[in-house]
Amino acid sequence: MSKPGIKVFAPASVANVAVGFDVLGFALEAPGDEIIVREGKQPGLMISEIQGAGGKLPYDIMKNTAGYAAHRLLQFVGETDRPLEMEIHKKMPFGSGLGSSAASAAAGVFAVNEFLKTGLTKYEILRFAVEGEQIADGAFHADNVAPALLGGMIMIRDNETLDIKKLHIPSGLFVSVIYPHIEILTKESRGILKQEVSFKDVIRQQGNLGAFVAAMYTSDFGMIGRSLQDLLVEPQRAHLIPHFYAMKEQAMNAGALGFSISGAGPSMFAFSDNSGIAEKINEQANLLYQKNKVPVTTYLSKINHEGAIRF
Ligand code: HSE
Repeated sequence: MSKPGIKVFAPASVANVAVGFDVLGFALEAPGDEIIVREGKQPGLMISEIQGAGGKLPYDIMKNTAGYAAHRLLQFVGETDRPLEMEIHKKMPFGSGLGSSAASAAAGVFAVNEFLKTGLTKYEILRFAVEGEQIADGAFHADNVAPALLGGMIMIRDNETLDIKKLHIPSGLFVSVIYPHIEILTKESRGILKQEVSFKDVIRQQGNLGAFVAAMYTSDFGMIGRSLQDLLVEPQRAHLIPHFYAMKEQAMNAGALGFSISGAGPSMFAFSDNSGIAEKINEQANLLYQKNKVPVTTYLSKINHEGAIRF
């Protein structure tokens, strides 16, 4: 019989949030990944079981986002020979734009950190989680991993140095998440982006991002709504998502404060200032996608303040 271990959960997240490509993201209450870590039988970390991934995830810790994140922590604390077993329970879809690999990386490093009782804070292990996620999409950006680990909405001043700030979240902010079941690989969704954008659009986007952050601190829902406009990335990625503009129009007509792509897509998110509007958006999404024969899953959530937790 396997020894008892510790079990952790790390949530899905919405990156970019319309105005902060690669520098802004927030955690959802659900879905998310679960990881169990226990004492192993042989020296070193090994992944003993992966469930819910349909055979798509590698057991090799150097190639697995959760395994590699944990391995980097073990290197840092000088414990790479410690016998450890990791069980991964994928409870969220891949390539959905909801930070699936980030949730795994955050859960993996958090579980080992808790098991070893290193005393390191979540912020101190963040870099290892980002390095874990980097295996999946090749880029070093914390806009999914930081909220998955730390919770809340995270503004990243600089990805390289992980100079970040948790933003104030106004109470009464609801999130609708719409996930049409097609797979978009982040690498490909990044690959189509132009390397040059117009100066005029950058000026407007800067205004939107600054105003959005200010509006979050002052619970100014009107300005949150006016700010949530992505001039840089949404126009380049919208065509990858079936019925994106029809869905956006319906959400805005239903009273959403703003609507855009979640991370690299295909998921979309809407902010609302009451749960009735958020529910209505999800109902409309179900109708729209069912009518067009695209399987869809919707989630209604508040912003999750906790991030990764032991349970
Ligand atoms: N900021 C990233 C992107 C999030 O949109 O490509 C997905 O990893």
